[in-house]
Amino acid sequence: MAIELDVHPLSNGFGAEVRGVDLATCGTGIHRAVVDVFHRHGVLLLRGQTLTPSQQMAFSRAFGTPETNERREYTYPGIPEIFVLSNKVENGRTIGDVDAGQGWHTDSSYLANPVMCTMLYAMEVPPEGSDTLFADLVAAFAALPPERQAALDGLQVQHSWRALMELLKADVAPGDDRFPDVVHPLVRAHPVDGRRALWVSSGTTRGIVGMPNPEGLELLAELMAYVTQERFVFRHKWQAGDVLVWDNRCTLHTGTPFDKTRYVRHVHRTWMLDDAVRGR
Ligand SMILES: [Fe+2]
Repeated sequence: MAIELDVHPLSNGFGAEVRGVDLATCGTGIHRAVVDVFHRHGVLLLRGQTLTPSQQMAFSRAFGTPETNERREYTYPGIPEIFVLSNKVENGRTIGDVDAGQGWHTDSSYLANPVMCTMLYAMEVPPEGSDTLFADLVAAFAALPPERQAALDGLQVQHSWRALMELLKADVAPGDDRFPDVVHPLVRAHPVDGRRALWVSSGTTRGIVGMPNPEGLELLAELMAYVTQERFVFRHKWQAGDVLVWDNRCTLHTGTPFDKTRYVRHVHRTWMLDDAVRGR
């Protein structure tokens, strides 16, 4: 028998909130039904959740294989797939990454196989600031005239981990080539239902294959300004107990700042690879 979930749109045709589900106790059948909703809506929200790290891992595994994070200084003790976003200080040290996620981007686009989705479970959130904004890249592509869609379809974007490190002013040795540049299509069909997304990003992009710069960079900047217009953007205001999952195949996201001297933000993040949906 099909599982009926209580699903509500988050905004105009984008995003979904599933109500009436307790992720800690509902079991894998409900987890799978919730994941099915996620695949069709770009952003998924469940409120009022209380999850232990192992319960968050169980829900994360319903989406795909959780990715181990390299930055072990901020992973949860004993669970390297959970990355801690926090400005809490314990024993004289900040226990999480404080500044992750500012600036419009899609996660790990510098990899040949970027993470499919990102899950944030918020335990403590500031009363103001620290919103997460999403750009609906499917709506943005659909709103283009057919001739512009045709002109962009088939273009390839060069993504670079090194470019991101330069932007973040990170200390990277000159010979460190652990993530060589990769190329991804600018227009990407969703593997579940074929809806097409204008898969532009910033931070990792070096240009467009076969198009000299500055022309390629100018086109990317123009498209970034286009997809992040207010009409394509949804703003999530956090509550403690929120579990939010976004689909990196068809959305961009960015965070807004908050007053770290007054407020605490404490969040557990997981990243999932798309092996569970491959071949669908
Ligand atoms: Fe991100």
